[in-house]
Amino acid sequence: MNLDATPVFKPAIEQEELDAARKALELGWLGMGGYVGDFERQLQSFLGAADRHVVAVSTGHAALHLGLLLAGVGPGDEVITPSFNNAADFQAILATGAEPVFCDIDDDTLCIDLASAERLVSPRTKAVIVMDYDCVLCDHDRVAEFARSHRLRVIHDAAHSFGSKYKGRMIGSFSDIAMFSFDPVKTITCIDGGALVVRTEEEMSRLHEMRLIGMSQPAKVMYTNARAWTYDIKSIGFRYHMANLHAAIGLAQLSKVDRIIESRRASCRYYNRHLGRIAGVTVPKTTFEDISPFLYYIRVPARQRDELRRFLGERGVDTGIHWQPGHWFTLLKNCRRDDLGVTERVGEEILSLPLFAFMSEDTLERVVDGITAFFRQNR
Ligand SMILES: Cc1ncc(COP(=O)(O)O)c(C=O)c1O
Repeated sequence: MNLDATPVFKPAIEQEELDAARKALELGWLGMGGYVGDFERQLQSFLGAADRHVVAVSTGHAALHLGLLLAGVGPGDEVITPSFNNAADFQAILATGAEPVFCDIDDDTLCIDLASAERLVSPRTKAVIVMDYDCVLCDHDRVAEFARSHRLRVIHDAAHSFGSKYKGRMIGSFSDIAMFSFDPVKTITCIDGGALVVRTEEEMSRLHEMRLIGMSQPAKVMYTNARAWTYDIKSIGFRYHMANLHAAIGLAQLSKVDRIIESRRASCRYYNRHLGRIAGVTVPKTTFEDISPFLYYIRVPARQRDELRRFLGERGVDTGIHWQPGHWFTLLKNCRRDDLGVTERVGEEILSLPLFAFMSEDTLERVVDGITAFFRQNR
């Protein structure tokens, strides 16, 4: 790792996270406890989701796994997902015993192509995973309509869109089952963490049990930094709870989330302004109004993508690839799928540029100058 390079991601760790971590460590109750309850309440309030229930878990992957189980997904079922998605989504489907089925994405939004998903619906289809990509949102009204018409559950993977609004409503506040990730590189981090947002108290209670090895350990007791020593186990469970230390860091991040979002949004607008005029570069089609961007991507001609990555790397600018499509992986290459023409193309054209909170103008300029120089030399 070149420590002087501009990274793709950098968590916004300041004095408040260090203070929060110290306080949580000094408390001495490191596992599931009071900070987790506080984090869930603060998340619910941030999302404006008074009619929903928030359950914090250990990772986004755990949230996806539990969300799918909650939706009743199991062996013999199929779950439709864009092949252009995070590996965690595919593994979560496989972990339930179900099979991922790959649909294509829309060429403009890089989010699910519902016409492609429609072609894949079968009697075995139980659910669909839709994902907001980087800084662009799905058409969630159409997703809901699609799911209603085929009686499917929707797992809304909102790992990239924490803090964004869709038609005035906070992402996470309106979906069937929504999930977030708070891993080290996300818009806000808990070091590692995730959350589910569900509609009913019953779903919340099932999640409370599943995240704690299936123990009917009342969350209310755990939130007082204590535990019940007797409990029942009625269903399958996992060790997927969020830890107190991680929740404490999440709370510190939430306290400054507006500042984080505003600075990320400003950086994306800078990129769009300067990169949008370079021939050969396609920038996200958004003004970032109401968007809390997680990643900033560009698309470049496939034959130049890796060369550009090398060129930028030599100039101290790291870049990423989000993602290699799922059906390219050995494990998933035989999954049932639609024609994935857009996914194939995007998988070779996509490039993630550095984006993190509080980027300096110098850093942004360094990235833009590198890309400008590359395309001047390689017209
Ligand atoms: C779209 C998406 N879903 C799910 C995940 C998994 O989250 P986690 O890393 O917290 O397990 C990620 C992680 O990068 C992601 O980008």
